[in-house]
Amino acid sequence: MNGVNDIRSTFLNTFGKHGHEQVASSPLVPRNDPTLMFTNAGMVQFKNVFTGLEKRPYSRAVTSQKCVRAGGKHNDLDNVGYTARHHTFFEMLGNFSFGDYFKETAIELAWNLITKEFGLPKDKLLVTVYHTDDDAADYWKRVAGLSEDRIIRIATSDNFWAMGDTGPCGPCSEIFFDHGPGIWGGPPGSPEEDGDRFIEIWNLVFMQFEQLAGGERIALPRPSIDTGMGLERVAAVLQGKHNNYDTDLFRELIRASVDIIGAPATDAAVASHRVIADHLRATAFLIADGVLPSNEGRGYVLRRIMRRAMRHAKLLGAREPVLYRLLPTLVAEMGRAYPELVRAEALISETLKLEEKRFLATLDRGLALLNDATDNLHAGDMLDGETAFKLYDTYGFPLDLTQDALRARSIHVDIAGFEDAMARQKAEARASWAGSGEVSDEGVYFGLRERFGATEFLGYDTEAAEGQVLAIVEAGKEVAQAAAGQDVAVILNQTPFYAESGGQVGDTGVLRADGLRFEVSDTQKVAGGLFIHRGRVTEGTLKPGLAVELDVDHGRRGSIRANHSATHLLHEGLREVLGTHVAQKGSLVSPDRLRFDFSHPKPLDTEELARVESLANAVVRQNGSVETRLMAVDDAIALGAMALFGEKYGDEVRVVSMGTAEREDGSTKPYSIELCGGTHVRATGDIGLVHVLGESAVGAGVRRIEALTGDAARAYLQEQDLRVRRLAGALKVGAAEVVERVEVLVEERRKLERELADARRKLALAGDGAASATAPRDVNGIAFLGRVLDGVPAKDLKGIVDGMKQSLTSGVVAVVSVTDGKASIVIGVTEDLTSKVSAVELVRAASAAVGGKGGGGRADMAQAGGPDGDKGQDAVEAVAAALQG
Ligand code: ALA
Repeated sequence: MNGVNDIRSTFLNTFGKHGHEQVASSPLVPRNDPTLMFTNAGMVQFKNVFTGLEKRPYSRAVTSQKCVRAGGKHNDLDNVGYTARHHTFFEMLGNFSFGDYFKETAIELAWNLITKEFGLPKDKLLVTVYHTDDDAADYWKRVAGLSEDRIIRIATSDNFWAMGDTGPCGPCSEIFFDHGPGIWGGPPGSPEEDGDRFIEIWNLVFMQFEQLAGGERIALPRPSIDTGMGLERVAAVLQGKHNNYDTDLFRELIRASVDIIGAPATDAAVASHRVIADHLRATAFLIADGVLPSNEGRGYVLRRIMRRAMRHAKLLGAREPVLYRLLPTLVAEMGRAYPELVRAEALISETLKLEEKRFLATLDRGLALLNDATDNLHAGDMLDGETAFKLYDTYGFPLDLTQDALRARSIHVDIAGFEDAMARQKAEARASWAGSGEVSDEGVYFGLRERFGATEFLGYDTEAAEGQVLAIVEAGKEVAQAAAGQDVAVILNQTPFYAESGGQVGDTGVLRADGLRFEVSDTQKVAGGLFIHRGRVTEGTLKPGLAVELDVDHGRRGSIRANHSATHLLHEGLREVLGTHVAQKGSLVSPDRLRFDFSHPKPLDTEELARVESLANAVVRQNGSVETRLMAVDDAIALGAMALFGEKYGDEVRVVSMGTAEREDGSTKPYSIELCGGTHVRATGDIGLVHVLGESAVGAGVRRIEALTGDAARAYLQEQDLRVRRLAGALKVGAAEVVERVEVLVEERRKLERELADARRKLALAGDGAASATAPRDVNGIAFLGRVLDGVPAKDLKGIVDGMKQSLTSGVVAVVSVTDGKASIVIGVTEDLTSKVSAVELVRAASAAVGGKGGGGRADMAQAGGPDGDKGQDAVEAVAAALQG
């Protein structure tokens, strides 16, 4: 029962039996605290529950919380490997009461667990209490039966626990284990307390206050409990070990490290193996929670941890990347308790390998430089800042790696000199922006980028988080505040809002705090990584320094994700159906539709479009998870990832793959692999449905398809379906016969129109039976035939006039048709007469008679019209009069 995994589950189950909700560890990147770099205690996820801001359906909870103490306020990085109990990553076991039980029950539960469940001997235990906390001291006497000399009163902040400069806090009571007189050290509060004999194993915090910014401390709504027990420490105690690195879990990791690197864990090598084991855990868990190595913020802390481990592997003689090969051992040890580790195993492995490959390339040269520079230095000497900066800037040595490398020789680094060199480099970079022209528009943003660094993007993993307002910009100028009604751009230290790029539109949503509301209407990225949230303050006043809740419009982002993933599927489908010449030329991923432009020389036919759509939907139905990995560009392209020609990529790229396809040999590969910084669905099934609306041309050799996904696709198809049903109803056939029926109707109509025109012509030629109608009269020696018809379409008149001309052999024909009260006129003159009379002139006379403005045509045939349909006969007479001369 003493293995780390058993201890963890005993703790969780025991408190579970006492009515505690077993809550999963929150991610290492805190969602609800803008001031913390990493989650560093179990209570972090409950911060707002203690203060009453957030309600949960339970008032007791128990967790095993992943914690990282590296970078930021709590930084144990420098000590790791050289002490018995420091870690960058550790697990904190804790039970919590949110206004439910308080001191007495907390003490009773804790005492029972360690003495009964864990079976620690009572005489090896002692406790501390805050010096004024008589209640706690009394409970320890009564509940645990501890004598006065085993209850030590401490007046310092050691026994008043606070999350940070602000947040919940209260007096605390710590339980210590005595390793016995064989080990040097004294009880807490004594001058020898830093020795290793008395080890703190559990901290019970009696949460009573909230520390506000500015110094004020207010009471929490109800007294609460927060406890924290380091799993690694208690495991050491229970396993009779004095060093956390000698417990079962670390023994396994160190065994793997010894096997794979091939260096025994003896002498100086012990520390290196310990550093590697610790840093591997921190690395794996940080990557699983969405942090990737970078040169700023959390990503840089991760990079520092990774590179330190790599230097130690090198020190042990590793020539090739090795850390990624230790990962399976870690996953075997911890994957059951933390399934995220299993899910992210491929990503962690590749990220490690990539970082190792890259860093090994410069590590040797950097170490050679370091050796040269320190050849003549001795213990107590200082390495100059310039060299440390060169190692940082050119060889990728984080400052603490250089410090760590010189530690064994007791050589320090001139940190002020290092910082000077860094400041000089920044000033040079600024000068080069000033010359780039870009600065004129975005000057304010470049300044802010330099002051605050790039914004940390949290939006791959979450759509809600807290952030701190760093600056507000209005009309190109930084302002001290923005009140309701003002349109401004807000810069935050971190954000889940996606900034427009790669065709995907920027996120919208809200920023909120007490009495404050800012509606984000767009998010953009400027000055190389600064996210600006544009929008309007609708309530309260926004000021730099404020902590705000950031909420991305969830539904909108969901649709964007689906459209983005569908774009990848359609891209691959087009290549499959049309050929690999298909390359992306542009794309738009918005919440309501997607648009994808690609190279292809001719229009797609309906059948091609249908095949592309079917392929995409087949992958949707596979419902496989969408994988994201970080890789070197060249490796990604070698893997077959589709990259955009001419696009600028950094050294490392995100590679998004989805779906499964079969190779010819029967093995499988991802259906689609693309370099992409956008946001995607978790599993392809989340796309729901892909429907291609159609295709069109955008330029020479470039086609465009547009498509809908998810509910938009469903709603569209529903509407189409309704239309077909209505049509079927109107046609009185089943929906399946609609097309055939319409084709028949169209053909019938064409036939009827032809027959009607024929009939009209015949009627016109035949007249109404009266001789005068068909017989021409003689006007000035010319045979003239004039007719007024009712309702014959203008387009049919020429045919009628032609027929009449033929029947006359030589003469002039005038036909006026009256439709909807308007007159259409056609005049025909037989060929032999055109030198004497012009149809164009005659039609002018006729047009004037019906109020028209003349007409046009040729000498043998001209047409015109006029508004006065009742003057048809006048028009005929006007032609006769014109012939008369
Ligand atoms: N929050 C307390 C700690 O971290 C339990 O020690």
